[in-house]
Amino acid sequence: MSRTLVIGAAGQLGIELVLALQAQEGIANVDISDIRVPAHNEVMKSRFLHLDATDEGAVFKILEEGRYDAVYHLAAMLSAIGEKKPIAAWDLNMQSLLHVLEAAKEGWVKRIFWPSSIAVFGPQTTRKHVPQNALLDPTTVYGISKQAGEYWCRYYHEKYGVDVRSVRYPGLIGHRSLPGGGTTDYAVDIYHAAHARERYGCFLQADTALPMMYMDDAVRGTLELMAAPADSIQVRTSYNLSAMSFAPNEIAESIRQHIPSFEIDYVPDERQTIALSWPESIADDAARADWGWKPRILLPEMTQLMLDAIANQSLEVQD
Ligand code: SER
Repeated sequence: MSRTLVIGAAGQLGIELVLALQAQEGIANVDISDIRVPAHNEVMKSRFLHLDATDEGAVFKILEEGRYDAVYHLAAMLSAIGEKKPIAAWDLNMQSLLHVLEAAKEGWVKRIFWPSSIAVFGPQTTRKHVPQNALLDPTTVYGISKQAGEYWCRYYHEKYGVDVRSVRYPGLIGHRSLPGGGTTDYAVDIYHAAHARERYGCFLQADTALPMMYMDDAVRGTLELMAAPADSIQVRTSYNLSAMSFAPNEIAESIRQHIPSFEIDYVPDERQTIALSWPESIADDAARADWGWKPRILLPEMTQLMLDAIANQSLEVQD
């Protein structure tokens, strides 16, 4: 029997990963934790452990008692909100990771997943098809914490044999949970506005392209990475992971294929500066070669899936 814990289970990725892990491992084998209670009935069928992931004693207690085979440590403050609270973002993102790595060093955790991000790249990084070993040049506290975290992961792997695995996610787009505090959040919000037949005010400029991924691809890739044999994982910092790249005007156009009256305004705010510091697309050859990564969903299909799912959800709410 394999035992799994998700830290940060109430977040955008947490909710989705918990649902997939419950299906894969069985609800009874998946524990969930967060500082807030996840607002999702299915997710809450797993055992919920309240946790402030910056509290070393609390993290150690849960991990020493739980002796988990896999811990998905997702708790983090994202790029936009992190700029409003830089020290708090650093503290949350770094302390929590170090507590989980230390627990694994003690032998209480067999395998860790920890997400990095395209936010590790910056103005000095190549803009298109960024290779695995590109220059990292983070400009946000979130990106700085992800860069440092990547090297801590490799350090614990090389020094102490900790089996920690990571990917640099692009912006993630799903319909089962909402993002919070990120620069790529518009690409989720826009579908909800389109479904509600509202005009959407986009906080990025029309032509600012970013790497993006449909949530089901991200979750599948994460589970595939965690299932891969340890000796196939050649990158112990974090793997580039890629699916598609689009700008707000392109996602708007794909929505108009379904809702021709959809309208969008461009009202860039401080998130525009962050978006401009990130690359347009990244190359994921290493992930493909080492553990067989391959994306499945591109923009037209994602738009169909998102609009259908949001429409179904609102029908269920009305019932
Ligand atoms: N989606 C994240 C953000 O926008 C990037 O990893 O902050």
